[in-house]
Amino acid sequence: MVIVPSPVAAGRLVADILEGYVRAGATLGLATGSSPEPAYDELVRRHREEGLDFGRCRAFLLDEYVGLAADHPQAYRQVIRRALADRVGLTDVHGPDGTASDLPAEAAAYEEAIRAAGGIDVQLVGIGSDGHLGFNEPGSSLASRTRVKTLTERTRRDNARFFGSLEEVPHHVLTQGLGTIRDARHVVLVATGVAKAEAVAGAVEGPVSAFCPASVLQLHPHVTAVVDEAAASRLRLAGYYRFAHEHKPDWQGY
Ligand code: F6R
Repeated sequence: MVIVPSPVAAGRLVADILEGYVRAGATLGLATGSSPEPAYDELVRRHREEGLDFGRCRAFLLDEYVGLAADHPQAYRQVIRRALADRVGLTDVHGPDGTASDLPAEAAAYEEAIRAAGGIDVQLVGIGSDGHLGFNEPGSSLASRTRVKTLTERTRRDNARFFGSLEEVPHHVLTQGLGTIRDARHVVLVATGVAKAEAVAGAVEGPVSAFCPASVLQLHPHVTAVVDEAAASRLRLAGYYRFAHEHKPDWQGY
């Protein structure tokens, strides 16, 4: 648990973590949405000003809306192009195809593509205000694989800001399952803003439960959660997390 003062500071730390993987030519798991944007902006800056090279990296997206045309501006393949890929020359980007006629077959093929790539080295995730991880809404099996899910009304409302109206937000998505996300070797969770405070507290300090899908991360051996003060505001052990981070041994990375 790392509590930082602001979303920009969260982005800088997440970029620090990802930079090591980028230099190693790792397979990256990328999230969309607003939470990772400061980290992506910082990685773009390092690419432009410091020559950080993404040429040997491959990336897999967490999820995709069902039914949005491939060139729709809110299709996650387009979102990640604008947010990161096109800006850093990352061309080997995979995502589940939400326009596939056979969605279960597409989901299985996506799982196979991740497996064939040797798995995901580092998976960046945000968290929904309802505790979702990827688009695994409350009630998702903690062992689930990539599949179709139905968005809650809360998530559709949360995401309506990216669309012209609530009606335009799809009801269905293809998402990596919680079991898929658990297979990533390192998971980096980034959450900022008070709207995420309850979900963060549930994920980190609540019971492991399908009611708060992000709580599955408690079962993962290597998770770094980077949250700003607002997103940390409901954590009961915030003081302990701060102390532990301030006294982190020099040899210990993230
Ligand atoms: C996005 C994703 C979602 C978001 C979550 C938070 O690929 O899988 O789980 O990370 O909905 O969204 P923001 O960051 O926009 O608050």
